[in-house]
Amino acid sequence: MPRNMSKLEAARKFEREEAAKIPASERLNFHLTPLVGWMNDPNGFCYYNGQYHLFYQYHPYNTVWGPMHWGHAVTDDLLHWEYQPCALAPDMAADAAGCFSGSAVPLPDGRLLLLYTGVQPATTDHKERQAQCVAVGDGRDFVKDEANPVITADMLPEGYSEVDFRDPKIWYEDGVYYCVVSNRHQTEQGTILLFRSADAHSWQFVSVIDCNHDEYGKMWECPDFFALDGVQVLLVSPQEMRATEDSEFHAGEGTVALLGYYDPATHAFARHKVQAIDYGLDFYAPQTTLSPDGRRIMVAWMQSWATANHDPSHRSWFGRMTLPRELSVKDGRLYQQPVRELQSLWRDTAILRNVKVKEPVALPGIEGRSLDLTVVLDVAASPDCRRFTLRFAADNVLYNEIRCDVDRGELAFDRSHGGSRRDVPHTRHIKAAPKDGKLTLRLVLDKDCAELFVNDGERALSAILDTPLPAGRISFAADGGPACLDVIQHHLG
Ligand code: FRU
Repeated sequence: MPRNMSKLEAARKFEREEAAKIPASERLNFHLTPLVGWMNDPNGFCYYNGQYHLFYQYHPYNTVWGPMHWGHAVTDDLLHWEYQPCALAPDMAADAAGCFSGSAVPLPDGRLLLLYTGVQPATTDHKERQAQCVAVGDGRDFVKDEANPVITADMLPEGYSEVDFRDPKIWYEDGVYYCVVSNRHQTEQGTILLFRSADAHSWQFVSVIDCNHDEYGKMWECPDFFALDGVQVLLVSPQEMRATEDSEFHAGEGTVALLGYYDPATHAFARHKVQAIDYGLDFYAPQTTLSPDGRRIMVAWMQSWATANHDPSHRSWFGRMTLPRELSVKDGRLYQQPVRELQSLWRDTAILRNVKVKEPVALPGIEGRSLDLTVVLDVAASPDCRRFTLRFAADNVLYNEIRCDVDRGELAFDRSHGGSRRDVPHTRHIKAAPKDGKLTLRLVLDKDCAELFVNDGERALSAILDTPLPAGRISFAADGGPACLDVIQHHLG
């Protein structure tokens, strides 16, 4: 770094020069990737000054995780992204070992406030410390508070950690700023803590919102907390989960939605239902914001930590965000659908109704790697069909597959023949029971991103494919008796 150049200026110079070398054809069509280098969690997702802003955990200098900066992009429609210069670099004592995840809120004076975790380096006396920091700016350039960190472990009740204390999610309500923050209690319980502030700079501890009670993993990361359709929703990303018998949760890092009731007078949360957020292979650390028209929009890192450090692509960027999704709560479940803006990309629509398939068959015009494909299996009209199989991103050798076990009301998502040379998980089994006699699969493909929405968003599953792009074939097959299908395909572009 030239003398006198700040860490932020150096990052901005580096990313500008290196990003210019990345061909546009290497990018995804509508999923956000880092400008250059490494990306993990979405941060600071908000609507500000007429645009959505999305920041992200960022290590511009390498495609593996390293000293965390904040990358930044803006969008009008949640599909076309415009990069902004790096927003934060680890350049003060309070965050010298990294600017970890956090969130954003517009201020009454028109500026944007970022609340993030500053990591202080270990010394001979103590381990790395995490505490919450503030930076305020105009949506492009941010000035860190000299008083950082503003939320520190000495504000916590007995037994909470100064080492695992991170990922504040801020919001403004009735003249008060609130934030939820993750902490690991000394009993190994992942816990979500609530803080309040009159000015977003000076904070007090309020209450313990929830903790894992020895279930749902250990440390909980990246909380989000909001009211939706008459229910209070807590989203968390637990580490070290155990798999459950009912295939709701898999081992390792997972994502969990806790649905319940929040009492604003006592700041107590009572959970009633617990479910996975996404059942796929590549989904972590989701964060939400409200759109101007009142929709709760969620975006997540489309990756798993378990596989994050083995990138076979040789590209100079690594990591991507999911397609932003609209959330709702129906019948006590969290539903998610691709944002409706996706329809603006629909091209060359093909609709095939009442197609009967048995032996593996391709259907006219149904193929590609950038598409929004809906397949409705009419279970009542397919009485002998035991299993329905949808193959996609296939060529003569490679394929990815969704196998619906109609009787058991389950499906398997399987990318194990998609071209991977790695011994990592490639399959997930999830519940997929017909509703009103129909099973609906909506598969959104963007090159090597696959996102599946079952029964209008009752369950979602995200996965990265290892399959080279020319492999765009799609085929349909049924075991037992024929399957009766409606197939609706829109190319996206
Ligand atoms: C989640 C996480 C956060 C942390 C960030 C560091 O993926 O571990 O808890 O703030 O990543 O990059």
